[in-house]
Amino acid sequence: MKNILVTGGAGFIGCNFVRYVLNREPELKVTVFDKLTYAGRLENLAAVSERFGGRYHFVQGDVCDAARVEETVALRNIDTIINFAAETHVDRSILDPDAFVKTDVYGTYVLLEAARKLGNLRFHQISTDEVYGHVAGRRRSLEEDALAPRSPYSASKAGADLFVNAYCTTYGLPVTISRGANNIGPYQYPEKVVPLFITNALESIPLPVYGDGKQMRDYQFVADHCAAIYLILTRGRIGETYNIGTGSEMTNLAMVEILLDELDKPPSLIRHVEDRLGHDRRYSLDVSKTLALGWEPDYTPEQAIRATARWYRDNRWWWQPIRDGEFKQYYETVYGARRELDLQ
Ligand code: NAD
Ligand code: TYD
Repeated sequence: MKNILVTGGAGFIGCNFVRYVLNREPELKVTVFDKLTYAGRLENLAAVSERFGGRYHFVQGDVCDAARVEETVALRNIDTIINFAAETHVDRSILDPDAFVKTDVYGTYVLLEAARKLGNLRFHQISTDEVYGHVAGRRRSLEEDALAPRSPYSASKAGADLFVNAYCTTYGLPVTISRGANNIGPYQYPEKVVPLFITNALESIPLPVYGDGKQMRDYQFVADHCAAIYLILTRGRIGETYNIGTGSEMTNLAMVEILLDELDKPPSLIRHVEDRLGHDRRYSLDVSKTLALGWEPDYTPEQAIRATARWYRDNRWWWQPIRDGEFKQYYETVYGARRELDLQ
């Protein structure tokens, strides 16, 4: 692994991964390939570009554009593709699934074809715990569980996973897949719940909790996720899938309490609002297969939430322009007419 292509590298997890590998591997060269949608931002990589100029290269492009992908892979002498590029927000997928099918399914197929045609390249797919769907009782999802996605977002991600495995079986492409739990940390677009609630709280705007707020998620720190992805890339078995998370989940209300406490803001900011359509109540991963590779998360979910709250408190320069831009319109569409619930 000498020349890697990181698709979606200007987004939240991708930019943290690029920083992680460039710091860790002094010989590695990284090409970021990103369309720069609303979620992709060059400022996420500005410090990387300054510090690692010679080993870092940026290409603006769409993963659905086969010619651009293949030209980049050939010109940059790529030996490994790591696919982070995706439309990623469930609420946006409910409003308009079109881009999700295009980027998450068709875009993954285009990348797989490039990997197959241009030298059977190593391919790693970044997937999500959401492909397992709602997980009932005290069960934890295992990698071999049947996929049961329930939102347009997770259905698209599941479709991509199936394509990745099909390319391994059919063409012998050397692939791995990782399925991560909810990531939080620096540079996450403030539409996702944790940065949304933190930035609302910092502006003393109410926090719109969907339904009763008792849905369960595993909130993992993005740096832990990146370390696990790197380990799977270097030590994972070809053809295998690995779950990544802390292995412990909490309710959304517990998450809100922690972030309000860290920011010294009052619980009176909480508002229960009409639930998300098809809302998955619980995700829960069995992560023993990844632990067995020799990885362990550094952050508990509570530590991750507190560290994330401090980062947003200290980096208003990053999120304020986002909240003042396209985001305003989005917020109005999703939350403007949402009914408040009286849960007394
Ligand atoms: P993000 O929305 O912050 O970033 C996505 C990036 O992909 C952006 O830079 C965007 O410009 C780029 N992109 C979108 N469409 C593209 C296209 N057609 N061509 C090229 N680039 C395109 O997402 P994220 O939270 O960093 O998620 C990254 C990956 O991790 C996704 O595949 C997502 O499904 C997966 N994942 C995310 C989480 C999470 O909690 N955020 C958890 C598990 C897995
Ligand atoms: P989100 O960050 O969208 O991730 P996921 O893909 O896991 O749904 O939401 C995390 C949880 O927070 C999920 O249970 C939905 C809930 N949520 C709210 O209660 N209010 C909100 O405004 C948002 C965006 C999410």
